[in-house]
Amino acid sequence: MTATTSIHWSDRARAVLPGGGFGNFDPGVFIREGRGSRVWDEDGREYVDYLIGSGPMLLGHGHPEVLDAIVAQLPRGQTFFANNVLGVELAEEICRSVECAEQVRFLTSGGEADMYAIRLARAFTGRDKILKFEGGYHGMSAEAQMSLAPAVLANFPTAVPDSAGIPESTRSEVFVAPYNDLAFLSGFLDEHGSGIAAIVVEPLQRIIPQEPGFLHAVRMLCDRFGILLVFDEIVTGFRLAYGGAQEEYGVTPDICTLGKIIGGGFPLAAVAGRRPVMDHFDKGSVGADRWLMMLGTLSGNPVAAAAGLKTMEILRRQGTYETLKRHGTRIQGMLRDHLNAAGVAHEIVGHPALFDVVFTETKVRNYRDVLAGDARKSATFNKVMRNEGILKSPSKFYPSLVLTEDDFERTEHAIRSAARAIASSN
Ligand SMILES: Cc1ncc(COP(=O)(O)O)c(C=O)c1O
Repeated sequence: MTATTSIHWSDRARAVLPGGGFGNFDPGVFIREGRGSRVWDEDGREYVDYLIGSGPMLLGHGHPEVLDAIVAQLPRGQTFFANNVLGVELAEEICRSVECAEQVRFLTSGGEADMYAIRLARAFTGRDKILKFEGGYHGMSAEAQMSLAPAVLANFPTAVPDSAGIPESTRSEVFVAPYNDLAFLSGFLDEHGSGIAAIVVEPLQRIIPQEPGFLHAVRMLCDRFGILLVFDEIVTGFRLAYGGAQEEYGVTPDICTLGKIIGGGFPLAAVAGRRPVMDHFDKGSVGADRWLMMLGTLSGNPVAAAAGLKTMEILRRQGTYETLKRHGTRIQGMLRDHLNAAGVAHEIVGHPALFDVVFTETKVRNYRDVLAGDARKSATFNKVMRNEGILKSPSKFYPSLVLTEDDFERTEHAIRSAARAIASSN
């Protein structure tokens, strides 16, 4: 094993993968294996992992009980297309624990779940238009790619496509609002509310929390105008609380999407919602004209369901969410202490279960506030963290449940180095 192993693989990857990677993360990083709170790259470098597969590995890598559940299923078959009891048990558990979930439909990815949630709201309301918030991430469908990360800021509610290949017509179907801006939203809905099928929102938008009462007010506006409220809980589900953001914030949507944790590290996601809405997946209930056709080769895959069910069983144990909160709060405290000591202006944005630091002097309420943060300082922060053996997304810390004292020490050392590097580059 030499430091050239990843260079060798980068060369091979560039030949066969556009941009030399899967499109997700720094293509120069090749992770060889993960155990508990740590991952190792192909060059043998060890990292404390705050990427955790972009969220699913809340229990850490290779949790022995989850592995046992997967290994028990594997010799019985990998996939059937037909119903399997693990999928039914997983749906039952989601319905028990997620407030809006009376029924569940499984899919393979979060983006797919979001696409169907939007279509479902259209089928139920008979309306075409949707409203999303600028900077809100809902997968890769044409609608979701509107004003996800716009470099050019348009006037609200005009949507801006963030990808090539999106038909011009999509612009006329998607309205965009600033997150946390109730005055804008209610004024806009007074004029256009009756044509809108769904308001789609990440209840914790990327890392930005709702201002007190915002989601509750959005719920009331949806009720007033007959709009379905869709919570994208791909990230927040089983993370902010066992029952997700809807439990944490006490606001119940009509539909939610779930992914990441419920598949225990395997491809599995879900749309869940109230029964009259979910009925549109059932031709027998709503008739051919109002039926939403949906098929997926791997939907409800039994290996993914086994991994997800065991993951959720472990999450239900006493003290899980207190531990997660304690871990996140501890790291947030380190960030605050060392950046303050170094005299670096910043805001720690998020929830203890998911957060990052934004280098700004103003309060972060929406996408534009994050964009106004100092990108150069963020880049320095992330670079030093990586060099010091911390793996994280450029815009998020995902704490896991299995962080050790040694992990916290390494993390604190890295944060101290990053704070000093930023201060000295001022
Ligand atoms: C809030 C949110 N919605 C949807 C998605 C898409 O999920 P997937 O990557 O499984 O398609 C993501 C992915 O990170 C997400 O963060």
